[in-house]
Amino acid sequence: MEILKDALGPDEILDGLCASKISRKIVVFKSTSSTNDIAWQYSLNKENDGIVVFAEEQNAGRGRRGNKWYAGFGKSLLFSALILDCKISREMLPLVSAVAVAESISDFGGKGVQVKWPNDVMVDGKKIAGVLVEFRGDDAVIGIGVNCHQQKADFPDELKESATSVDMVLGGFCDRRDFARKAIENLEKWLDISAKDRQKVLDKWQMLSSLLGKMVGVEYNNQHFYGNCIGVDPQKGLILQLERGGVRMFDAAHTSILK
Ligand code: BTN
Repeated sequence: MEILKDALGPDEILDGLCASKISRKIVVFKSTSSTNDIAWQYSLNKENDGIVVFAEEQNAGRGRRGNKWYAGFGKSLLFSALILDCKISREMLPLVSAVAVAESISDFGGKGVQVKWPNDVMVDGKKIAGVLVEFRGDDAVIGIGVNCHQQKADFPDELKESATSVDMVLGGFCDRRDFARKAIENLEKWLDISAKDRQKVLDKWQMLSSLLGKMVGVEYNNQHFYGNCIGVDPQKGLILQLERGGVRMFDAAHTSILK
């Protein structure tokens, strides 16, 4: 296996970390199925609330709507946080997580970071990170994948024009251990904000939104719809002022944005 300059380890990530709820425990796998699955295994013991599972590589990484999520060994930051008895709603949690990741990239010097409904983080119109939130009852796992060390050649052909990485955006080397700390701290911060005042999250999300005020095409139940994006509702989804007239909402579970 390749030797990594920024190999992940619990101590390296915990060193200087300012968080008290998320990351009470950190585990790191060199290779695993999906960090979300491992986080769910930990959910059987209540003492694991707040555990964060990292992996250098996943062989069954998954994205939204059954998509596969692939990243080469040590190239991305792949992690999942377990939140037992989560007080944030299942509609809000993906938005909270996307805002936290977007802010982390900005904190690292990334310019023009945006969120693309429902759970993508974008720079210059290219995807840099994705969030997959899963609920089982009131327990939640927030899975986050951030492209860090990829260069264009590292992405599969179909993603070469539509994906980017933190290194590409910064024109430098992003130490994933530093980024992991920042992401955990921001996640904890935005979870706290959301628990107190969810409108603050929605305002921040709208501010970062790449779709708001733009013409958007969506596929919903095998049909295409086009319209101006006039907002996002955490429960009902993307709100479009349709070209053909009328306002319609499209829920995240059944909708994908057309390229
Ligand atoms: C998406 O863009 O569709 C969401 C991608 C989420 C990928 C991350 S990588 C860490 C965690 N483990 C998984 O299997 N998926 C999430």
